[in-house]
Amino acid sequence: MSATVLIGAQWGDEGKGKITDVLSETADVVVRYQGGNNAGHTIVVGEERFALTLIPSGVLYPQVTPVIGNGCVIDPRVLIEEMDTLRGRNIDPSRVRISANAHVIMPYHRKLDAVRERYLGKRQIGTTKRGIGPAYMDKFSRSGIRVQDLFDPKIFRRKLEDNLKDKNRQLVKVYNQLPMDAEPIAAEYLGYADLLRDHVTDASLLVWEAIERGDRVLFEGAQGTLLDIDHGTYPFVTSSNPTAGGVSTGIGIGPRSIDRVIGVAKAYISRVGSGPFPTELEDETGARMVDIGGEFGTVTGRRRRCGWLDAVALRYAVRVNGLSEIALTKLDVLSHFDEVKIAVAYDSLGERYDNFPRQQGVLYNCAPVYETHGGWNTDISEVRDFSDLPKAAQQYVERVEELAGVPVSMVSVGPARDAILSRGD
Ligand code: IMP
Repeated sequence: MSATVLIGAQWGDEGKGKITDVLSETADVVVRYQGGNNAGHTIVVGEERFALTLIPSGVLYPQVTPVIGNGCVIDPRVLIEEMDTLRGRNIDPSRVRISANAHVIMPYHRKLDAVRERYLGKRQIGTTKRGIGPAYMDKFSRSGIRVQDLFDPKIFRRKLEDNLKDKNRQLVKVYNQLPMDAEPIAAEYLGYADLLRDHVTDASLLVWEAIERGDRVLFEGAQGTLLDIDHGTYPFVTSSNPTAGGVSTGIGIGPRSIDRVIGVAKAYISRVGSGPFPTELEDETGARMVDIGGEFGTVTGRRRRCGWLDAVALRYAVRVNGLSEIALTKLDVLSHFDEVKIAVAYDSLGERYDNFPRQQGVLYNCAPVYETHGGWNTDISEVRDFSDLPKAAQQYVERVEELAGVPVSMVSVGPARDAILSRGD
């Protein structure tokens, strides 16, 4: 491995944290290239549970340089708190590197995220309310504040005041809120500069030099393919590009540098927030998936919507990311079901869809065409070799592989670090 991309192949929460953690063991650099503290990565090390939202999970390994790229949006308060938490657990965060070009999440972004959602009422996106969307809006409207601006108080204050003129108009006139004062925000954010100074760097150069040296670089996507601003179920998406293409722009390296793209998919599927979800189970079976799979958001604690594996969406993820392989997670959760289903196509208004429909209206009316497989009804969480899995579980994995058209190279059967079955090389 020189440069590997690891992305979510579904709507996020596929268990990427665990696979990243395993791959980080042999990595030199681990990079986040999009998103912010809307992501939640839970890693279990022995008895300890780590929930990281912004810092790449590679930070747990002393040889890894964790990098937050320009494609990310950074809430400095959260970043500093996360570094403090790591220090408190005897993990050294001094190696964390941050792109000077990453955009900063400001208090008015958080505020606008929350009031806009309230304003949308029933049509709300169900965002994490961390200010992600409004921060990216400012980036693309070219009024955003970047990490490098924190180190120039004059420029920072000018940008803040310009922004506040506009945001306060929106807050007061559109959303009926109190205006925000520049001074306390400036004092707070300029205070972060000293704490972050040693971490800020030219992240594109750092990663490029690492690749040139032959170091092993892992790009860790947050959220998932179907939440991508371009390729997801718009508008019920996040505001960045979690798909593999986002790596190039989100750190500043060319696509030729990437040689492996792993898509992480759960053995079933889940989604938090609103939006179409063809295989959603709003019945007892779905409720059992939530309970058995512990399907509650790491960031917001929200209950996730669950359903059977969607092979139409998975094939789509293979295509738009150019996946070379799949890591299938949480197979152990399916051990509790007498039969397991996979959606192999959709039926929408009398028409069959083998490919992910490009039109949202079609997606909303999709009924999944299922194939049903026998369950295995055996605890597989202690299995460490694929050939020791019950035949029905092996066949399920092989069928996923066949439907996706790429190999399933890893199967996760439990939360522990070693509960991963590798298949071939
Ligand atoms: P935002 O990213 O906070 O703007 O939220 C937009 C949509 O993406 C909402 O449906 C969120 O629930 C979803 N979302 C954002 N981050 C994650 C994640 O890490 N896992 C799963 N869903 C997410």
